[in-house]
Amino acid sequence: MKIESWGTRLGLILAMAGNAVGLGNFLRFPVQAVQNGGGAFIIPYLVSFLLMGIPLLWVEWSVGRFGGKKGIHSTPFILDAMDRRRIWKYIGVFGIFTNVAVASYYCYIESWTLSYVFHSIIGTFRGMSQAEVAQFFVDYTEIDKTTLGIPYEAVLFYILCLGLNTWILSRGLAGIEKVAVVGVPLLLIFGAFLAFQGLTIGTSGATAEHPDANSWEGINFLWTPQFDSLLNPKVWLAAAGQIFFTLSVGMGTIQCYASYVRAKEDIALNATSAGFTNEFVEVVLGSLIVIPIAAGYLGIDWVRENAGFGMAFQTMPYLFDKWGALLGALSGVFWFGLLFFAGITSSLAMGTPWVGFMQDEFRWTREKGALSFGLIILAFGLPTVLFFHQGVFDEYDYWGGTVSLVIFALIEIVLFAWIFGIDKGWAELTEGSDIKLPIIYKYIIKYVTPILLFFVFLGSFIAPPV
Ligand code: PHE
Repeated sequence: MKIESWGTRLGLILAMAGNAVGLGNFLRFPVQAVQNGGGAFIIPYLVSFLLMGIPLLWVEWSVGRFGGKKGIHSTPFILDAMDRRRIWKYIGVFGIFTNVAVASYYCYIESWTLSYVFHSIIGTFRGMSQAEVAQFFVDYTEIDKTTLGIPYEAVLFYILCLGLNTWILSRGLAGIEKVAVVGVPLLLIFGAFLAFQGLTIGTSGATAEHPDANSWEGINFLWTPQFDSLLNPKVWLAAAGQIFFTLSVGMGTIQCYASYVRAKEDIALNATSAGFTNEFVEVVLGSLIVIPIAAGYLGIDWVRENAGFGMAFQTMPYLFDKWGALLGALSGVFWFGLLFFAGITSSLAMGTPWVGFMQDEFRWTREKGALSFGLIILAFGLPTVLFFHQGVFDEYDYWGGTVSLVIFALIEIVLFAWIFGIDKGWAELTEGSDIKLPIIYKYIIKYVTPILLFFVFLGSFIAPPV
């Protein structure tokens, strides 16, 4: 059997960056930040990154490369190789199902982005009022009574999106690498273009209806730290949740990707650079597009009152249209194209643990594994498509995208630091590395991160983040 590995180092880095940089960076981060008081969010967010995010990234890369050295590429088998008790395999399988739950709703949003690229190109949003753009989204996602209750277009784009994911997954690492090598740089270029627009609107978008509109207010709101938030557990929970989601930890995708690195690869360096790249994209690009552009035309107070997921779809096309037919359409293609590339490079990552497991456990071919992933996501995901407005989507996000990640991460770090053993684990992580990790992190991984994860776990039941 041919041993698969990443084609080039750049390919590996872009695939890992694509895994982390996703819809979470551009859609979830700004909304979380606004809903949790803007600048109040930033300190808990950065602390969570340093005390939980970075340690978990290191652990997951080490676990992955450890498995890869033994020729294993799926989380259940890798965890099993770290400690021979049967339970670990089941925990790995639990991680795979978290991917299924998250991919089911994640791919649905991804399919919106495809559809919105299409509608930006054909000029659907041209000349629409804000209410009309918002209504378009409702019509798109709502069950249409006249068509036997099926939102046809949404279902069609969902299937198209799953088909694309399945096809790329069936081509293996090389397919994922190709998408990442094209998609990640493109999304950075699109993002830089839109962030530039966000920065330069300033007060020029003010009108009689929105006299206070000012894009810089949007940036100020996010970047003026407020220390009193440190006492608010809800803000901490939201910040920690965002860190897990954005870094893609707690699901097994990083372990899978890392299991394909060469045995001599510098994982400490790669994991650190992937983590910081994701943070750069999130805190810089993620905060310079939706909020400043919306604040630039509608005012920051409007944004605070209306902040939500819908802003990206229900408001942005209307705001772009103010820039004229050509620039408006182009910006629509850039924005939804950016979201599409961010999305697909992440949903592909969610597919790899499943495909790897089918190969390891049942000796299925990659093609069969990929097809079964597409079908299971279709089965689990259709309820989110058909009952979007009935809250199914939010349930998936809560159980899959919030609680399960924390449970998996907590169990995994206990396995790594306490059962596999922190000394062995630290040696795995630092082996062959050119950078010197601060030794204090050995203790953070052993004591601080697990304790914090435990609190986040308890907290997510006691005070579920909204
Ligand atoms: N990190 C991705 C994002 O920010 C989401 C993701 C979570 C991807 C878990 C893979 C695994 O959108």
